[in-house]
Amino acid sequence: MSSVTVRVPAKVNVQLSVGPLREDGYHDLVNVFHAVSIFDEVVAKESESITVQVNGKWSDQVPTDDGNLAIRAARALAKHAGRTYGADLVIQKEIPVAGGMAGGSADAAGALVACNELWGLGLPFEDLMEIAGDLGSDVPFSLLGGTAVGTGRGEQLCELPTGGTFHWVFALADGGLSTASVYAECDRLRAASGAEVPWPQLNDSLMEALGTGDAYALGAHLSNDLQAAALNLRPELAPTLDSGRQHGALGAIVSGSGPTCAFLAIDATHARDLALSLTTTGAAHTAVAAHGPVQGATLV
Ligand code: C5P
Repeated sequence: MSSVTVRVPAKVNVQLSVGPLREDGYHDLVNVFHAVSIFDEVVAKESESITVQVNGKWSDQVPTDDGNLAIRAARALAKHAGRTYGADLVIQKEIPVAGGMAGGSADAAGALVACNELWGLGLPFEDLMEIAGDLGSDVPFSLLGGTAVGTGRGEQLCELPTGGTFHWVFALADGGLSTASVYAECDRLRAASGAEVPWPQLNDSLMEALGTGDAYALGAHLSNDLQAAALNLRPELAPTLDSGRQHGALGAIVSGSGPTCAFLAIDATHARDLALSLTTTGAAHTAVAAHGPVQGATLV
């Protein structure tokens, strides 16, 4: 096989509950991931060494050196297989970079699936999930897709059945936010308030809304413990969220660590209208309609 193509979705967190800071610098989470129809494509071609090239939107913001998560994924897979392999990885980026939508994690998941195929390793999904968890907290979910609850750092996943398709609009921001800095700001705000940080709990009403496909109930129960921190770092996101609510969004939330804002729409037509309203009023320079849940990293 000389070339393999994999499509990988972005995610939004419909619940992101952040527990106390752990000794290893991470936080225990209850993280309800939902994969949405904004996709990066990862192509892996036969080569002597492991390289990466990034095309498409925001490609200039993605490192192509050892900091690239797709390169690290390919290397980790080769190491797991106990041999030296090469692959030229070409990433077509649609998922915002450092946008709170797991764009880097998607590329890592895509590289794992693509190289597993290109190199004829035939490793089972469980092995890929284990390697994924070492690469980053969100990488296992990018492999899995659908809707799932993540606990631990977010890497221990339990799939959730959903009762239908949800329609979303994502308002893209200029410039990204570093995930680590948003968590650090969250810790700082919590320390300043002096309140005890509760152990994160799954929201039963949110589970029910996902299970029955009730967009109105889901909109009412969206929550993100990182939102206050992201808004502190990017105050201009607050009016963007307000504008979406004014245009009938059932829920408006910062996606993960931000700065992308996510709006839940009533249906596909409302999502298109909402995206148009957000851009024409200047509340967002780019707004993308998408739906979820969708499959995780998939060979095409
Ligand atoms: O796992 P990942 O590399 O994606 O995490 C990036 C950063 O986000 C970590 O270095 C940490 O600062 C923060 N993080 C956290 N708790 C988590 C997941 C991520 O504090 N559960």
